[in-house]
Amino acid sequence: MEFYGTLEGIIEASQPMEKIALFEEFWSAYQEGSIDYAPSNIKIFSHPSYGAFCTIVPPRNVPLRKRMSTLEGRQLFLHAIMHIEYSAIDLALDAAYRFRNLPSDFYHDWLSVAADEIRHFLLLNEIANTWGFKYGDFAVHSGLFEAGVVTAHSLLERMAIVPRFMEANGLDANPKFKEKLYPFRTIEGVEKLLLALDVILHDEIDHVSKGSKWLNYALSLPEHNPLSQDYFQILEHFFHAKVPKGAPINIQARKQAGFSCAEIIHLGAQKCD
Ligand SMILES: [Fe+2]
Ligand SMILES: [Fe+2]
Repeated sequence: MEFYGTLEGIIEASQPMEKIALFEEFWSAYQEGSIDYAPSNIKIFSHPSYGAFCTIVPPRNVPLRKRMSTLEGRQLFLHAIMHIEYSAIDLALDAAYRFRNLPSDFYHDWLSVAADEIRHFLLLNEIANTWGFKYGDFAVHSGLFEAGVVTAHSLLERMAIVPRFMEANGLDANPKFKEKLYPFRTIEGVEKLLLALDVILHDEIDHVSKGSKWLNYALSLPEHNPLSQDYFQILEHFFHAKVPKGAPINIQARKQAGFSCAEIIHLGAQKCD
């Protein structure tokens, strides 16, 4: 099986179960070592693969989350997390597809992240089935996809922005989500969602630490310009100096994921020990 061409097809697969089945087949072949690495052109994807079945709107038009006490509130909340997990499948595959001639660990790391994201999506999809909706039933924004596009030319920027900023923000958000859901744990599916969020937090620490590992690798390359491209300089460049300040920070999870105390303080934590 051909590595890059097959990955391109999986990324572009427009239906979730088709994408997942194609990945499973590829992942088995990869683990068995029956893959060849013929060079191919690197495509810039112009549309996210979920565009075939999701209505994409600007972030301000994404339906507002309602209270968790209502079925609609829980559906919107779950849909938003499913969308993050689904987008993360394509982003992990895209890292393995796009960045060439790196150590073999790099490809193994991001393909195993894709396998985790698929597991997360399927866990949430089961709950969605019991809550009477499917992925694509609500409008979404394409922020994660856009982050992939603007960082497509640079391993350093991709690692800084996608796993080590966006996925890392998820480490902070996860305990807040659980707190909001906990009072409703006797409602069918909520306990299952709380358990899924535990699995997700556990695995996401590993994803962010892979981001830290490959960010450090990119920072160590001879072409890297240390004067203009440290982690926070990259964030400021992309987010116009708006590194979120004052939001709660999951210090323990971030430390496990390879953030230094200096970075955690820079992000706005009062203390870090
Ligand atoms: Fe995930
Ligand atoms: Fe992840």
